[in-house]
Amino acid sequence: MTPVAASASVASDPPENLKSDLPTLRPTSIIHRTTWRPPVATYGEGIYLDLEDGRRVIDAVGGAAVACVGTSHPKVIQAIKDQLDRVPYVYNMQLSNEPAEKLAQLLIKSGNGAFELCGFASGGSEAMEGVIKLARQYYEEIGQPKRTNFIARQLSFHGNTVATLSLAYHPGRRGPYEAILDHNNYHHVSPAYAARFQNVDETEEQYVQRLAKELEDKFVELGPDTVIGFVAETVVGATTGACPAPKGYFAAMKAICHKYGALFILDEVMSGMGRMGTTHAWESFGDGAAPDIQAVAKGLGGGYASIGAVLMSKTVAEGIRGKSGIWKHGHTYQANPLVCAASVAVQEVIASENLLENCRVQGAYLSQLLHERLRGPNALAAPYVFDIRGGGLFWGIEFDFESPEAARVEMKGQKFAMTVQARALENGLIIMAFIGGSNLEGTKGDHILLAPAYNVTKAEIEKIVDVFVDTVEEVLKQHLVSD
Ligand SMILES: Cc1ncc(COP(=O)(O)O)c(C=O)c1O
Repeated sequence: MTPVAASASVASDPPENLKSDLPTLRPTSIIHRTTWRPPVATYGEGIYLDLEDGRRVIDAVGGAAVACVGTSHPKVIQAIKDQLDRVPYVYNMQLSNEPAEKLAQLLIKSGNGAFELCGFASGGSEAMEGVIKLARQYYEEIGQPKRTNFIARQLSFHGNTVATLSLAYHPGRRGPYEAILDHNNYHHVSPAYAARFQNVDETEEQYVQRLAKELEDKFVELGPDTVIGFVAETVVGATTGACPAPKGYFAAMKAICHKYGALFILDEVMSGMGRMGTTHAWESFGDGAAPDIQAVAKGLGGGYASIGAVLMSKTVAEGIRGKSGIWKHGHTYQANPLVCAASVAVQEVIASENLLENCRVQGAYLSQLLHERLRGPNALAAPYVFDIRGGGLFWGIEFDFESPEAARVEMKGQKFAMTVQARALENGLIIMAFIGGSNLEGTKGDHILLAPAYNVTKAEIEKIVDVFVDTVEEVLKQHLVSD
């Protein structure tokens, strides 16, 4: 649960229902990412998880936008068992394996010509590390070793390793590591976050032009022939909560990268592999601008497998093929047969059960209900809901307490989003909260992310919205001071 923990580190109070149990919940031999030991899950079925205390909760965010076919799909479970009976592990410098070869083919085919080769990793951060190294390797091999600079964006998240924290920019996540991050090779431009940063007198097109100019200025400032590429999440997830870019943004960014011979790189670890209702988020939310390099992870293994992948275009593949012909990068569990077999099965389920379509249909319904219940005429939460945005089954709700009316909400030092997240769990709903995503300093922001599995039903969407809205209202009522 990468993003939650990063946010939760500042919200150190355990949920109410766990407070009295603290002595029995501790000690634990795990160094948890929360100050309390989270409840233990014992069983999963579809979008439901059973906890050790006998409660059954709904997972409305697929863990960390990971679970995409639920937690108990029989075809995926069978595929893992079958592979276990064949061969669970080989080391990919010595032997390849059938599921990995099959998954790679499936991924390349999914790009409809955008991709030529693929490499595997064991998760999103590893995939993004692989992206950084592949991009640098490419320029080194095609004879442009001067290219050493990456340009990414403020309020982005690309992983929790030192390099990916350097690449991304979110003050809270950088926290104690700021002093050891690389400030020479990683540079940042503004986020594409219209709700907060588009000027009131600016059209969408003008906003895109302003952001494009800023990127181009950054290229010029660094020296265009020193830039490796521009890196962005197609739809931002773990900082600003399901935040798509304005129309035309990615086409403009790609054009600038290519003007200066640099790479256009997308991080679809969270928003990719179907989450937005298309296999790749750039197909629907990125102007159809295919990247030169792309990372995917969460929805690739759907929670059945720790896996990530790096996809590269023909240009990048040919650059590498023309020189070393190898990816100078690897990990012990890369292309693991068991995880690749699970991933193939997850992707086959998405295709055979037409889940991209369901993702779009249920996503539209989720959006409709959220708008009605949170912003409708009699909605208690309406004055505090700043924005509802997203697509597919990836929806962010951003709260704000700066209006005069918001003075009526007294959180007594607690963060609203974190309190809602904790209360929702008590009410039987897992959601994900982020703080610090509403300004560049990372000091303001209350976001909630909803990202249920792609096979969620209409009735389950209704249940999710019911519990979520009730929880928001419950927290608001508890913290409203009378006039
Ligand atoms: C866009 C993005 N990139 C990278 C990562 C890191 O992935 P992981 O937590 O699997 O290492 C995340 C995780 O939330 C993410 O949202």
